[in-house]
Amino acid sequence: MTASANDAPDPHVLVLFGGTGDLAARKLLPGLLHLAAAGLMPEDWRLIGSGRHAPDGAWPPGEEWEPHRDRVSFVTSSADDGEDLGRAVQEARQALGETSRTLFYMSVPPSAMEPMVEMLDAVDGLADERSRIVMEKPFGSDLASAKHLNKSVHKVFDEEQVFRIDHFLGKEAAQDILALRFANGLLEPIWNRRHVAMVQVDVPETLGLEGRASFYEETGAFRDMVVTHLAQIMGFVAMDAPASLDPKDLHDAKAKAFAHLRPFTRDDAVYGQWTGYREEDGVDPSSETETFVALRAWIDAERWQDVPFLLRTGKKMAQDRRVVTVTLRDSAHVDLLPRAEPHERPNEVVFELEDDPKILIEVRVKAPGPALEVTPAALRLDVERALGGGGLEAYERLLHDVMLGDRLLFTRGDEIELLWERAAPLLAEPPEILPYEPGSWGPGAADALAASDGPGWRLPDDTSA
Ligand code: BG6
Repeated sequence: MTASANDAPDPHVLVLFGGTGDLAARKLLPGLLHLAAAGLMPEDWRLIGSGRHAPDGAWPPGEEWEPHRDRVSFVTSSADDGEDLGRAVQEARQALGETSRTLFYMSVPPSAMEPMVEMLDAVDGLADERSRIVMEKPFGSDLASAKHLNKSVHKVFDEEQVFRIDHFLGKEAAQDILALRFANGLLEPIWNRRHVAMVQVDVPETLGLEGRASFYEETGAFRDMVVTHLAQIMGFVAMDAPASLDPKDLHDAKAKAFAHLRPFTRDDAVYGQWTGYREEDGVDPSSETETFVALRAWIDAERWQDVPFLLRTGKKMAQDRRVVTVTLRDSAHVDLLPRAEPHERPNEVVFELEDDPKILIEVRVKAPGPALEVTPAALRLDVERALGGGGLEAYERLLHDVMLGDRLLFTRGDEIELLWERAAPLLAEPPEILPYEPGSWGPGAADALAASDGPGWRLPDDTSA
């Protein structure tokens, strides 16, 4: 049985592969410290960092770790050498006692995942029935590699022990999509093609490579963001109500939506590369890696027939935003009242997936004054301001969930295989890569893609403040 969010996790040995990497430094290590400060770590725990090379100096770096020094250590390991790590994990497990668990966090590139899983199997003292594995996205790099990886993982771990992480699902506001949809008579009845004209999942980033050239050259925007984060969020928007909040029911509902996805093709996609990308350190001067994708997806289920799902993301763009927009069809009586601004957008339900989430419902209201005409305005909910903070950052939330064995906000192997399968035609025949200026909204063709179905991209807007 899954523990509830208020239970204390069992004692844990956390093994962090990629312990000196970017994700560990930016998210995982600060996240663990925050969980400790919030009293959400197990009563007793150990953290073992691992990687091919020992770090220079103390690990984890930073004074904030001083109170935890006797719990933390670093042991080198590689796909063909895990003996020292096996001994270290065994010792730590003995110290924590019989109820302890091991959590392997694989913060390694897709190509390193499988050899590392085989190592966990081969070395004594690592994987057992009380251990769990967290696998970073992208899970594989196409259908064949994802299937292969699923098979290899299942040789060592039962599916119940496997946590494929997609941290966008851990964002507070991603869960608000579920809360708003299913807990409100205001929205649930209109969440279908009769009332919804278009859906957008739009994640422009101002960041560039941030020292991740080798990962990014191997991955590109489609694999890094679209088939992973953006598709998962689309799943939350598109799925039918799950039978319950049991992880199996939620995963079934999401997989069913993905099963109705029409295969992605180049006719519905725009790829871009920022001008100057090829001159970045570590990038092939003739690189064909896409740093921008706009994709129009279709879900051929009764609920969504002919409703475009527009997904867009890119590096070095004009803004950092993570916005889900559900554009509603106009009221049949929209022309009854004159409009102060004839070209305003239709009603929209907007989720800003920030750590400090915001939800907007764009409506038309009477413009103050003597005339009976309407003007756009937003019903705006600033969740933190209205309800108080205290939410966990996505990675913290998900690390805590893994320690409790709660799989709800993780992804299941079959969902991922379905997404790769639908992506296959686009991976085989991607569109031409168009240049775009850093600081822009990507190639103009992406605007044309969105505008052919209605009012175009919601962003840039003026409601982010
Ligand atoms: C990661 C991607 O998974 O998500 C990065 O690898 C991206 O390229 C990041 O920048 C965005 O995450 P967040 O939480 O900052 O929106």
